[in-house]
Amino acid sequence: RQRVFSGIQPSGNLTIGNYLGALKNWVAIQDDYENYFCVVDLHVLTVPQDPKVLRQKIREAAAIYFASGIDPEKSVVFRQSRVSEHAELAWLLNCIAKVGELSRMTQFKDKAQKGGADSASGGLFDYPVLQAADVLLYNAHLVPVGEDQRQHLELMRTLARRFNNLYGETFVVPEIFVPKSGARVMALDDPTSKMSKSSSAPGSYVAILDDPDTVRRKIRRAKTDSGSEITASPDKPAITNLLDVYAAATGRPVSEIEARYEGKGYGDFKKDLGEVVVETLAPIRERALELLDDPKELDDLLESGAERARKVARPTLRYAWTRMGLD
Ligand code: TYM
Repeated sequence: RQRVFSGIQPSGNLTIGNYLGALKNWVAIQDDYENYFCVVDLHVLTVPQDPKVLRQKIREAAAIYFASGIDPEKSVVFRQSRVSEHAELAWLLNCIAKVGELSRMTQFKDKAQKGGADSASGGLFDYPVLQAADVLLYNAHLVPVGEDQRQHLELMRTLARRFNNLYGETFVVPEIFVPKSGARVMALDDPTSKMSKSSSAPGSYVAILDDPDTVRRKIRRAKTDSGSEITASPDKPAITNLLDVYAAATGRPVSEIEARYEGKGYGDFKKDLGEVVVETLAPIRERALELLDDPKELDDLLESGAERARKVARPTLRYAWTRMGLD
């Protein structure tokens, strides 16, 4: 069976973007692959974190994975920091990655720009190499992600090929899977920027753990465009985004939704979209809150996931060692 690997950073509040761009698709393909779904708690350290908050966010992320339908019988769910092979393989890959290619990563450039490139952490610069190690350790064939991960995952493919060329066939070169709708959910208050769980403006995102009334209110207040027609077009970025969310959440094509709302106003459309999003998220929220009531059980699930992950990660790391002459 082919393998799938993907992960989410346990920072901020996981959003409907994380659900539609990633989680929902993980669940959809779960039966067809051997799956590794990671809470990437090393990546999250690349920007400052409060340890107390982080501890809680790690459990929240895991609870949301399970509540979304990731089944621990079918998928290995674990914390990146608990499988030390991730950091070890990242070092090996660091030694074949080039400063030039890492400097060209737009995510680094964006994040570094915010605080000034000189004060960005070395970890932030190195981020995509650890991400490559995550996937290559499991020889995963497929990586289901949102649109924003493309550049990092292209670098991952480059590193896999480079390693194979230098040291002989070692790693599978993974394919990237990006869904047709929901791959890039934009902020509710600004359809030109991506919806982000680390935003300081709660009105810009719908969190998976938002209660139904908050979800309805946020969607009602979402920015719209001038005019009144509910159509997807480049001059209507806000409505286009809301249509995409509707399409991704219901699995219906945008054209069908446009037809349904012909002659209706933004108000009607947003009211219905609020209900669609509540229907999507409410059961996940309820289940996640239940799981969070028993942190011991969550921790145990993550620990047994890590044990299973190590069984695959260890031999891959050893093989890479051997290839490089470290045996
Ligand atoms: P992260 O934590 O930013 O996001 C997790 C997943 O959610 C997707 N996503 C979105 N999809 C649609 N619309 C949005 N607004 C949106 N925001 C986020 C992301 O594309 C991603 O699939 N570097 C990764 C974590 C990672 C990883 C990996 C992923 C670490 N190692 C290995 C895949 C494979 C990240 O920061 O994702």
